[in-house]
Amino acid sequence: MDAAITPAQLRDLRKRLGLTAQQAADSVRVKYRTWKGYEAPYGAPSHRDISESTLSHFCIRHELAYPPISDDGRLLYKNCKVVSFTTYKGGVGKSPITVAAAALLANEGYRVAVVTNDVVFRSHNRSERPPSVRRFREEIGVDFYDEANVRLYSYEVRVIEEELRSDGVIFDTKGLSPAGNDPMYDSAIRRLESKKNTECLWQDLINQYDYIFVDLNRRPEETFLLSTLIIVLVDALCVSSINSAEKIRDRFVELNGGAISEKVFGLMTNYTPAAPSDSAYAVLDSEDFADEESVRKISALVKADELETYHHYSRNAQFVKNTRIPLLSTYLTNSHRVEIARFNSERTFMEGWCYFNSVVNVAPDSPPADEIRRLVREVKALLKDLSD
Ligand SMILES: Nc1ncnc2c1ncn2[C@@H]1O[C@H](COP(=O)(O)OP(=O)(O)OP(=O)(O)O)[C@@H](O)[C@H]1O
Ligand SMILES: [Mg+2]
Repeated sequence: MDAAITPAQLRDLRKRLGLTAQQAADSVRVKYRTWKGYEAPYGAPSHRDISESTLSHFCIRHELAYPPISDDGRLLYKNCKVVSFTTYKGGVGKSPITVAAAALLANEGYRVAVVTNDVVFRSHNRSERPPSVRRFREEIGVDFYDEANVRLYSYEVRVIEEELRSDGVIFDTKGLSPAGNDPMYDSAIRRLESKKNTECLWQDLINQYDYIFVDLNRRPEETFLLSTLIIVLVDALCVSSINSAEKIRDRFVELNGGAISEKVFGLMTNYTPAAPSDSAYAVLDSEDFADEESVRKISALVKADELETYHHYSRNAQFVKNTRIPLLSTYLTNSHRVEIARFNSERTFMEGWCYFNSVVNVAPDSPPADEIRRLVREVKALLKDLSD
């Protein structure tokens, strides 16, 4: 009987799913070497046939049709790409960059969703007052989901319950949490209940969208499991964000069975190294500073200050490179600040910049919007490379 899948097709399928050989092997509980044998060409000494039961296990595990090849030889996999801008450090722009990239792809006509546990998102989602999630769904054409309302993988409820039990949380015979548990676990218990009762499954989202962005704070495990591409943010002005990027990179290596994952990249933000400007001299060269010596001194100070800022960026960029997280060639500057300030200056506090605003929609012709365009173009190219 012909094999259900050739070694080359199997490799292709695995790559399209964004899995390393180690992850594929782990998912069907075989050794790395065994999996590599499945992918080795017929006739190679290391080749071994993948059994039907292992292949069907692989398909179930990764929510593929079985067999995963159509009658006319096409691979049957879902083409949704899952991207995450992440890091442990808070406030570095994970959410605004996620929303801007998502909005840009939606503008281009793709079906796009964001799945998030961001607290700012939640506060808007729960509030009855504007700005409501519905309004923003329409305004930027992106669907938003609270991750607590999405079952991310089939055994997620069991995993969460086990984690809570091991923390000492008590459940009754019906699996409910009776009063008396430490209130510290209230929100984790609510999340568990919500995941138990939800009808929204990750698998359905994958079928519905071209791109899903996961914006999950403090959840590297789910981020790694679900994402096709992970972009770790590093703020060029914040040394602790560089440490944080290294920590999350190490966690991804752990989750990848000790190997560097091909799907993890870095993105430098707030990176604005500039040479000292001439404008300082122009301003100072006025009647107020008739004394030439003062002008010269002040100019020198300004120049030294600007040069120091340049060196600061340059040093931090070197620290970022030392992390050996492969950096995207795109980087972001702090130009978004100008557009956010302009947006806010024309609005009340309640209508000011919030989780759902995209710099691409708010200021389409601005430099920060162009940065997001470059970023998305590079993200698309990387996704293509990863699937080849
Ligand atoms: N390209 C960008 N567009 C918009 N904001 C940006 C961008 N880059 C960085 N930021 C900055 O991100 C900050 C707000 O981001 P926010 O605090 O929501 O980040 P976060 O990483 O999602 O935080 P949290 O960990 O709280 O979820 C703002 O201070 C903003 O200046
Ligand atoms: Mg956020």
